[in-house]
Amino acid sequence: MSDQLWVSFQQDLSAICSAEELSEIRDKYLSRKNGLINLQLRSLGKLPPAERPAAGQQLNQLRQRVETALVSRKESLQAELLRLRSESQAIDVTLPGLRPVRGRIHPLRRVRQEIEEACVSLGFEVVAGPQMETDYYNFEALNIPRGHPARDEQDTFYLDNGLLLRTHTSPVQIRTLEARQPPVRIAVPGRVFRRDAFDATHSPMFHQMEALVVDEGIRFSDLKGTLEQFTRALFSKDTQVRFRPSYFPFVEPGAEVDISCIFCAGGGCRLCKRTGWIEILGAGMVHPRVFEAVGYDWRKYTGFAWGMGIDRVAILKYQISDLRLLFENDLRFLGQF
Ligand code: PHE
Repeated sequence: MSDQLWVSFQQDLSAICSAEELSEIRDKYLSRKNGLINLQLRSLGKLPPAERPAAGQQLNQLRQRVETALVSRKESLQAELLRLRSESQAIDVTLPGLRPVRGRIHPLRRVRQEIEEACVSLGFEVVAGPQMETDYYNFEALNIPRGHPARDEQDTFYLDNGLLLRTHTSPVQIRTLEARQPPVRIAVPGRVFRRDAFDATHSPMFHQMEALVVDEGIRFSDLKGTLEQFTRALFSKDTQVRFRPSYFPFVEPGAEVDISCIFCAGGGCRLCKRTGWIEILGAGMVHPRVFEAVGYDWRKYTGFAWGMGIDRVAILKYQISDLRLLFENDLRFLGQF
């Protein structure tokens, strides 16, 4: 009797492949009420008295073997499950790794650094000034009279607190001359603001760099020589410089400065509109009225200044077609630099 039960139990056990099926088999053989082994034990009374002890012993032994077999099957099931899981989640260590995204220097910042380095190599000190300015520093002290277009609401952001957003880096000329004594040699990179459209060539916020030199005996030829050295350091050693007379209220004489086209070296191409020259900055000799505003004797001191657009240089150097690309921070664009 118990041999038959053992055979059928082993058949059942070999057919299972899940923990649920395993507990069904446990119930089938070992349940107190309806388990096959217990049913047999309860029917021992039907046997002749002499056979009962041996049959009972066999059934108890069978129960032990069934329990042991169930436990070991349970363990092997768990091992199987683990093996399957680790196979499906296996890591292929031969695959190439995922590279972390590397940061880069923004093209504007890079160009600013190059400009600063060119200035420092010529003996300038890099300084900064506030982006919020008074009317006095941004206009008045720079000999920009009332009624000048640069003071027009159209061009300037006026703030509720009576200040304005500086429209150029030139107010730092005044701040520096007030705070120091000659010789002064400063380079001032920074943000400036104008009420301009935001399009391919304009932005209401852009970057300038101001240069200012004040000392005894500074002449226009010093400005020319310094700008030649500066543009050669920034672009290439063959860069030519050209001055065209121009007007800025805070310099006299004033000039617009062109460099020979960095793409065609002056031969004439699309980027220089076939002229061979590219306008790059405004410059001039410090106006006596500026010296008066900061309390300097203009008979004793002279100086020169220039101001250039950093964004414009970046666009030129990298041949960027649209200024807005510099400010939109699209990583697909920035990743190219
Ligand atoms: N501040 C002038 C501008 O924003 C540039 C400039 C600076 C011109 C210094 C002459 C001297 O256009």
